Amino acid sequence: MNHLDELRVRLSVCDEQILECLLKRNAIVEDIMKYKESHNMQIIQPEQEKRQNQKLEQELEGKRHAKEILDIFHRITYNSKKIQARHLFHYNIVLIGFMGSGKSTISDYLSTMFAMDAVEMDQIISQREGMSISDIFAVYGEEYFRNLETNLLVEMQSRNNVVISCGGGTPMREKNVAEMKKNGRVVLLTASPETIYHRVKDSHDRPLLENNKNVSFITELMEKRRVKYETAADVIIETDGKNELEICEELVQRLMELDEKR
Ligand code: S3P
Repeated sequence: MNHLDELRVRLSVCDEQILECLLKRNAIVEDIMKYKESHNMQIIQPEQEKRQNQKLEQELEGKRHAKEILDIFHRITYNSKKIQARHLFHYNIVLIGFMGSGKSTISDYLSTMFAMDAVEMDQIISQREGMSISDIFAVYGEEYFRNLETNLLVEMQSRNNVVISCGGGTPMREKNVAEMKKNGRVVLLTASPETIYHRVKDSHDRPLLENNKNVSFITELMEKRRVKYETAADVIIETDGKNELEICEELVQRLMELDEKR
């Protein structure tokens, strides 16, 4: 055997060891998940991920190819999250709620914590149409926009394990709710009109609120929509006074409870 062949054999032995370790590691990830579930423990533990990263960075300090190795470990962590997410949610998580109820923020946090794809409906519609939501409303009208929402939800039937953040008005159409529920669990995020007002008062991308940014208008529109929101929801989470981690943890626990019951 020449030297090159010998090096290649050694490399392939390394690959086999890495493979074996990864298989073992993934099985442990699944066991951790089961342990947390059976002991009713907090599922999302960002502090643990931070500790793991710090430990790795310390161990790699001054070592050759530290950056490349760290990159691989980030990928491993990312994929562990995916394994967890697939174990927990074999469906899409559909976030609904009034403008400013926190759908986009919670979608970002949840998709980061579980390495899930996130679909921001307004953003996709706006990109595809090549104009802002306000311009779509102004140029084509609300009905046109609502049709785009329906089409996008139908399109989402071919996906799973995605966090979908709906526009505030999406559940107003019964067909939309039916589409959401085909392969999704619907989570309603709520907040008081005062909280909503504070969250939306400085933004200008919500045509329905543009000239109505006050608590009484918000209260009135919220009341008009309440029954539809609540009817659509599989789970309702109040967001007032809670941080992202608290909201997401509650959401995960409630979805798990729901699955136990089904
Ligand atoms: C709307 C909410 C907006 C956006 C559009 C209409 C609504 O989404 O879809 O301005 O009817 O409540 P956000 O809830 O994400 O602001």
